[in-house]
Amino acid sequence: MRSLLFVPGDSPKKLDKAMSAGADALILDLEDSIAPSAKEGARRAVRAHLQATVKARKRPLIYVRVNPLDSGLIEADLDAVIPARPDGIMLPKARGGQDIMHLSSKLAVREAESDLPDGEIAILPIATESAAALFTMGSYAGSSRRLSGLSWGAEDLSADLGGLTNRLDDGTYADPYRLARSLALFAATAAEVLPIDTVYTNFRDAQGLLAECKAARRDGFLGKLAIHPNQVEIINAAFTPTREQIVRAKAIIDAFAANPDAGVLGIGGEMIDRPHIKRAERLLATAKAARARAT
Ligand code: COA
Ligand code: MG
Repeated sequence: MRSLLFVPGDSPKKLDKAMSAGADALILDLEDSIAPSAKEGARRAVRAHLQATVKARKRPLIYVRVNPLDSGLIEADLDAVIPARPDGIMLPKARGGQDIMHLSSKLAVREAESDLPDGEIAILPIATESAAALFTMGSYAGSSRRLSGLSWGAEDLSADLGGLTNRLDDGTYADPYRLARSLALFAATAAEVLPIDTVYTNFRDAQGLLAECKAARRDGFLGKLAIHPNQVEIINAAFTPTREQIVRAKAIIDAFAANPDAGVLGIGGEMIDRPHIKRAERLLATAKAARARAT
């Protein structure tokens, strides 16, 4: 999943449009983009959309973002959408592995009630939406086989902190948010699930989005949340390994295959050893996943 496009669940027009936006996954939203008075209508629209599209042969993965565990709304959200078999649930305001286990048991009950395979529906948390949540980031590892990725959020965290803004004048994140971003990357990596970078809300600024994608890819994120169809192509391109990167990764692996007893080699004037092989293998795995999606 390179690009994951948010779609407000109460807009059948956007739900339709999103299907052909080129995103690897859609996140049909029942949470922050839906007014309290529109929740019930959105549940029905999301359920109908799932029922109409889930069997399509070629389609993006479809996740539903439900309301938080302590919202009083999540039971009705899950009751409405699980029978229609989404690929996954995005859990906002997540507070660690305990929350993943809690949601997992709710999913297991509904999978059984709907005759769906046990453990099929994935969970993707947004893990940094409150100050308290930052202290539980190490607990995602091993919490559930359902965990498919982990993302972070700066908007709700900034509301929790009560600061004035989360970005500096040059557009980059202020320190508290940079820490949250790094912790999300570490938490996802430690849990061996996809690290997904957060949204870029200025959806008319392609240059700013591209810069943020490049920084995310550089640091190890493998995908990014989108809020507008215009953002999808930029994100997909940024998180697909380039031909140059693939050639270089293959060269590293070939060089060690040809010298099985070497611990360290010089390639193109650079010292290459174990960590470089690991990195090359991971890049080729990412490229393979991107190719599999394209066919
Ligand atoms: N998914 C599907 N279609 C979308 C879309 C989305 N996320 N965002 C915009 N579109 C559609 C619009 O409906 C419009 O369709 P049309 O040409 O058929 O009228 C087209 O793309 C162009 O949209 P545009 O006019 O540029 O933007 P907008 O002002 O209509 O919408 C937002 C701006 C921010 C309201 C919209 O992008 C949106 O709803 N984003 C998702 C918000 C969300 O889910 N937030 C929660 C997570 S942070
Ligand atoms: Mg939010």
